[in-house]
Amino acid sequence: RSIKSLATSPSSHILRRGYASEAVPDRKVAVLGAAGGIGQPLALLMKLNPLVSSLALYDIANTPGVAADVSHINTRSEVSGYSGEAELGKALEGADVVIIPAGVPRKPGMTRDDLFNINAGIVKGLCQAIAKYCPHALVNMISNPVNSTVPIAAEVFKKAGTYDPKRLFGVTTLDVVRAKTFYAGKAKVPVAEVNVPVVGGHAGITILPLFSQATPKANLSDAEITALTKRTQDGGTEVVEAKAGKGSATLSMAYAGAIFADACLKGLNGAPDVVECSYVQSTITELPFFASKVRLGKNGVEEVLGLGPLSDYEKEGLEKLKPELQSSIEKGIKFANQ
Ligand code: NAI
Repeated sequence: RSIKSLATSPSSHILRRGYASEAVPDRKVAVLGAAGGIGQPLALLMKLNPLVSSLALYDIANTPGVAADVSHINTRSEVSGYSGEAELGKALEGADVVIIPAGVPRKPGMTRDDLFNINAGIVKGLCQAIAKYCPHALVNMISNPVNSTVPIAAEVFKKAGTYDPKRLFGVTTLDVVRAKTFYAGKAKVPVAEVNVPVVGGHAGITILPLFSQATPKANLSDAEITALTKRTQDGGTEVVEAKAGKGSATLSMAYAGAIFADACLKGLNGAPDVVECSYVQSTITELPFFASKVRLGKNGVEEVLGLGPLSDYEKEGLEKLKPELQSSIEKGIKFANQ
């Protein structure tokens, strides 16, 4: 199916087929909310990913246009568009990875939690469909507030009897992307070489970048670390304010979402040492969900990695974020069970 364009050339068809099935397994990725600000550039980036053989684009409206547009790009995956709830099942069937950027974004003055009332319901409905049509898929949750939407997804899957904590991820990659960019700028090191773990959650002070572990090392002052931490925590708000009512981060989020989905696909395909930060079910603190470095593999989460040594400033940040994160988790669980 994924090599339709070679159908007129039987020999190359066979060769390509053999190569494709041996070296790069077929993988279906579904994007839910694919016609949105994040969804469209994310669809583009997933179309460019050679690990994807089938790309399903779902939204409540406007997906045929996005799918037709993206489908003309001459890369491996076959693209199909699905519009409206009646087509959600078809979009999800057989999916290996489901990416969810469906829901409303922030406007200036809003916190991510202000999105709860609308997005919680959207996520709940989509996760009920995932439980039914692709219960084994890895779920990449982008819809905010991630601190609550991931617990909602877990509860929905538990109710359906399909919950596997190894397969549910809150996408916090944008926090890592921002921390790397801001650190490189301040430390004057090449951005492509920078690594910074970001732990905790995905909202305000629950976002805790661990600059004490950043590499390459730089001698930044306490004031510089505090400013970098604050800028990483407020990175989303920086974009919301600059967009002045037209939404939140979409392009950088699509990039981050594509990086994380690619890591999931690499893990599924058995690539070694695939490690990304993600908000997952966790026992590394007393909180049931927590973002930290995670090793990805054939079953999704292979290992939730510990926090490593923290500076006093980071220890303080960790204690400060716990009550807020705990209450966002409880809010999600309560919503899913009402
Ligand atoms: P948008 O409004 O541009 O797009 C959202 C899309 O979701 C729309 O096309 C809409 O039709 C669709 N949608 C609504 N209900 C749906 C349903 N039931 N099923 C499928 N699709 C549905 O919003 P944008 O900017 O793309 O943001 C999407 C979400 O991503 C927001 O919740 C936002 O807060 C979140 N976000 C998360 C980030 C993260 O780091 N995790 C960063 C930036 C945004």
